[in-house]
Amino acid sequence: MKVLVVGGGGREHAILRKLKESPLAPQLYAAPGNGGISYDAQCVPIAATDVAGIVDFAAREGMDYVVVAPDDPLVLGMVDALAERGVPAFGPNKAAAIIEGSKVFSKNLMKQYGIPTARYETFDNADAAAEHVRQNNAWPLVIKADGLALGKGVLICEDEAAALAAVDEIMREGKFGASGSRVVIEEFLTGPEVSVLCFTDGKTIVPMASSMDHKRALDGDKGLNTGGMGTVAPNPYYTAGIAAVCMETIFRPTVEAMNAEGRTFKGCLYFGLMLTPDGPKVIEYNCRFGDPETQVVLPLLESDLLAVMQATTNGTLGGLDVRFSEKSAACVVLASGGYPQYYEKGKVIEGLAEGQLPEGGATVYHAGTALDADGALVTAGGRVLGVTAVAGTLPEALSAAYKAADKITFEGLHRRSDIGQRALKAIQNV
Ligand code: AMP
Ligand code: GLY
Repeated sequence: MKVLVVGGGGREHAILRKLKESPLAPQLYAAPGNGGISYDAQCVPIAATDVAGIVDFAAREGMDYVVVAPDDPLVLGMVDALAERGVPAFGPNKAAAIIEGSKVFSKNLMKQYGIPTARYETFDNADAAAEHVRQNNAWPLVIKADGLALGKGVLICEDEAAALAAVDEIMREGKFGASGSRVVIEEFLTGPEVSVLCFTDGKTIVPMASSMDHKRALDGDKGLNTGGMGTVAPNPYYTAGIAAVCMETIFRPTVEAMNAEGRTFKGCLYFGLMLTPDGPKVIEYNCRFGDPETQVVLPLLESDLLAVMQATTNGTLGGLDVRFSEKSAACVVLASGGYPQYYEKGKVIEGLAEGQLPEGGATVYHAGTALDADGALVTAGGRVLGVTAVAGTLPEALSAAYKAADKITFEGLHRRSDIGQRALKAIQNV
């Protein structure tokens, strides 16, 4: 069986590693993959956003199944284009991927179906948005570009001047291109954040182990927002009681709302939640696995990922028993100095042999690596590696991940030293 994973980051590496364990023994391909992924799959140099290129390759080379991991090809309709050529794929079709592709759509969906989220207004006119900002008297205020913006389209504005500047940047100066032609302006919520990824075939919903991302670049949640500097799973704030409330008030209503809209969602639906004093609320939906959430969630999956994925596509998820380990996982991201802003590439990575750590106990997922002309592993992106460890408890997982991360070096390496500390405090307070 030939399986192609579309994408080339740490999330895709974690998906490939799990697929490699499948009893179906798939032959694995990645497009475009990366330096480290090339140890686990055959990398094909086609960009993840090249819908025609990927579809032609998959049809021509006889792929039996394709996993479309990143947001942009899903929003562009890659799953639909593959289906037209008879290639089954994991992920929502274009009609359903809009749940991430348009924040105006997702906010209106939540309002219409009574799914708890921050109060908001939407605007397609900069003057009207600015007037709304001037009338506002509760700060901070959150301003979001409607479309995909590489995770940078959310601005938390402390006062009127900052909010007016955000409206100008997004709507008048086009900082995020067409993604910013509409905006959502919403109230600021407080509380611990939880990521819950769910497999769904539009009928059955299978929540995976919960997780906690660390989005800011620097320790103490300081610095700029990034794609994610580290994760832990499970998230100790997400108790069984809260999980039941989320299934009842958020997960099931969302899947049913999408069905009612004629946009049945099949794939991985990511709920970015905030546990506010008024109960859990949706901060954002993603139409895909999170990165780096996947690097802690999938290592805890005990069932065959390939069988689970195929069941979401075929609508047979209800017939499967999907199991997660009771253990804990931690992932520490090793980034290029300067990320999420300018950084240099091409730095030689030391401390890894054959793409693996010399000592056991941790797994290294490659996010931004390449092999240079001499076959040496070098940095090739902002987030370079994700070092994940699984253990019986969160403190043990964190300590194993940091111990392994300590052995890896490259010029300019930057990482946070406090991944998991907030989660540990939550455990101590329970
Ligand atoms: P997003 O790109 O949608 O994941 O948003 C980035 C981050 O902004 C989230 O992880 C939250 O920490 C924060 N955020 C987004 N919306 C709100 C909100 N309404 N209130 C407070 N924080 C928010
Ligand atoms: N780590 C957040 C995301 O994947 O969007």
